Amino acid sequence: MGTTPSGRMAIVKGDITEQRVDAIVNAANGSLLGGGGVDGAIHRKGGRAILDECRKLRASHYGGGLPAGRAVATTAGLLPARWVIHTVGPVYSTTEDRSALLASCFTESLRVAHGLGAESVAFPAISTGVYRWPMADAARIAAEALRTAPSRVPEIRLVLFDDAAPATFRSAFGPV
Ligand code: APR
Repeated sequence: MGTTPSGRMAIVKGDITEQRVDAIVNAANGSLLGGGGVDGAIHRKGGRAILDECRKLRASHYGGGLPAGRAVATTAGLLPARWVIHTVGPVYSTTEDRSALLASCFTESLRVAHGLGAESVAFPAISTGVYRWPMADAARIAAEALRTAPSRVPEIRLVLFDDAAPATFRSAFGPV
């Protein structure tokens, strides 16, 4: 566990649904109604309370869905965390530079976590699965976004699922 301006930072291999932190970040889709990957795992293990709150968000503030780069919090239901912060990553494009949207997923999620008073937050490698963002580039964007984010949370954890991901993130983040 290293320290950065925003506090303690850790890069770990694991399952984000098992993280004992105040908030975990979900790599959601704009519908907020679940999916596969991280989204599927969080809804499957977190239980119905998460989906119920997502449905309420769709019925109130997010009728058209959550746009890419934005973040919104719900309960974490049955998960060890207190909150799930749902953020929608951009789908990787070879013709359009969507880096700012991916960076926004990290900074907006930190802003929401800070607003909740979360002391610890865990991020997955947003957009690097179904949305096909190359891992090394996503790690570079995540590192820069978390290093320069205006919002501060004492403990930030990058939780990586794929075997090669931790080394890729460690190389992008430098000594944490
Ligand atoms: N814990 C941590 N990381 C995980 C887990 C998990 N339980 N499951 C998968 N991952 C990793 C994947 O290996 C990948 O590196 O999270 C990263 C993001 O992958 P996805 O979950 O596919 O998310 P993303 O690429 O942002 O695509 C989002 O996929 O599941 C749907 O509904 C979701 O439409 C949305 C899209």
